[in-house]
Amino acid sequence: MKVIKIGGSILEKFLENDNLYTIIEGLNEPVAIVHGGGNYLDSHADSFNYHPRFVTSPDGIRSRYTDKGTLEIFTMVMNLINQKIVLNLLQHGIKAVTLNGIMKARRKEKLIILNENNRKMVIDGGYTGRVDSADPVPTRNLMEAGYIPVISPIAYGTDSYLNVDADRAAAYVAGSIKADTLTFLTNVNGLYYEDKIIERADTAYIRSILKYIGTGMDKKLMASIEALEMGVKQVTISSPFQNMENGTVIYSQSPLPEGRGSNREV
Ligand SMILES: Nc1ncnc2c1ncn2[C@@H]1O[C@H](COP(=O)(O)OP(=O)(O)OP(=O)(O)O)[C@@H](O)[C@H]1O
Ligand SMILES: [Mg+2]
Repeated sequence: MKVIKIGGSILEKFLENDNLYTIIEGLNEPVAIVHGGGNYLDSHADSFNYHPRFVTSPDGIRSRYTDKGTLEIFTMVMNLINQKIVLNLLQHGIKAVTLNGIMKARRKEKLIILNENNRKMVIDGGYTGRVDSADPVPTRNLMEAGYIPVISPIAYGTDSYLNVDADRAAAYVAGSIKADTLTFLTNVNGLYYEDKIIERADTAYIRSILKYIGTGMDKKLMASIEALEMGVKQVTISSPFQNMENGTVIYSQSPLPEGRGSNREV
């Protein structure tokens, strides 16, 4: 079983050209899709009459603040993207269905930000959440029946649906069904470190270089580690504009050296 996370960074190009189905075509194993799309919201902000509000963390990281209005627009945009993906697959004879309601998340209660005078202040956490579980049953059942579940990065807290990180959502979906592979499709060919592409790495190596990795890729690496810890066999980070099997492969650190104790496997 394979979970593919399609990054918002590449999604629009596929949707414009009506060729998203090419990602799935030719794969002969059950697939689930998780999609991103935060940047779609920014590029269509005017048509949604949306005025994003940004906050700065004490470490200087600027991010979108998800108030109630932002949450609602984010949810509408994610549903729109989801429908476009499903339509494109159906039009090419691939059975796809929207799947909502499988992820639970915890709302961030408080957020520490810097105000205009560069002083720390505590504000309400807004409507972003941290995924903490995914129900494997609907995903697995649909996949086994030959459908592709298409899943948006929206999870459910105790009193609201919440905007969640799509990489982490993909990790939880893949972890919940113990997928053989989780593939992150994005706009770079894989993980770059010291000007080279890393072809294969285990989680210990990834942890050791994480602090040198920039925004966007850092979240993918953290999500990769989580997915492998939940039982996913292998994570791939690659671009759909090249052979998807190239790119970076991340696997769990083997608890014992090869050959020693391997008779534990029965
Ligand atoms: N060491 C690195 N190697 C590769 N890419 C890196 C590295 N550091 C930072 N990046 C950035 O990570 C980006 C990919 O993550 P990004 O979040 O932008 O895309 P995505 O996850 O595909 O889209 P979305 O977040 O909208 O779903 C690359 O475009 C690149 O600029
Ligand atoms: Mg991203």
